[in-house]
Amino acid sequence: MKIISLESKPGLAEGEILREKAKPVKDINDEIRDTAREMVQAMHRGKGVGLAGPQVGLSRRIFVTHADKDEIRVFINPSIIWTSQEETACEEGCLSVPGVWAEVKRPGKVKVQAWNEKGRAFTLEAAGALARVIQHEYDHLEGILFIDRIGESKREKLLARLGKSKKTR
Ligand code: NI
Repeated sequence: MKIISLESKPGLAEGEILREKAKPVKDINDEIRDTAREMVQAMHRGKGVGLAGPQVGLSRRIFVTHADKDEIRVFINPSIIWTSQEETACEEGCLSVPGVWAEVKRPGKVKVQAWNEKGRAFTLEAAGALARVIQHEYDHLEGILFIDRIGESKREKLLARLGKSKKTR
């Protein structure tokens, strides 16, 4: 599984893969461990707090996170099994939608079940920055971008200002 670099694809936001539902990772092997390592490097180079497979041309259910004050985490074939009723609003950006920042409302806490790069299953309850990045990255696996989660008029304005495609799902 060869990942493409973020730097070489500045217009990735309009790419097809970002709009597809990613397929499960079949086997947690050395290849996927290499992929996870490369994704962590790409996330750090891009100064991001998370990165999902579809953002690097890989339509597989894997994402990595490095939220503020948290460790580096790898999520393979994740499921969000619970979300809190209370929501919080926070400004988000995305390495695949450069230059756009917008406030997005999401549940404040989530519980996620996934496998790590060693093939170990884990369940994690997250709040704050980590809960937010998990939801943002999980959305990428479903072909959803954060700009889909803001109001339509706000989105049109943001995208018009950037002179980008208004195509959203
Ligand atoms: Ni993103």
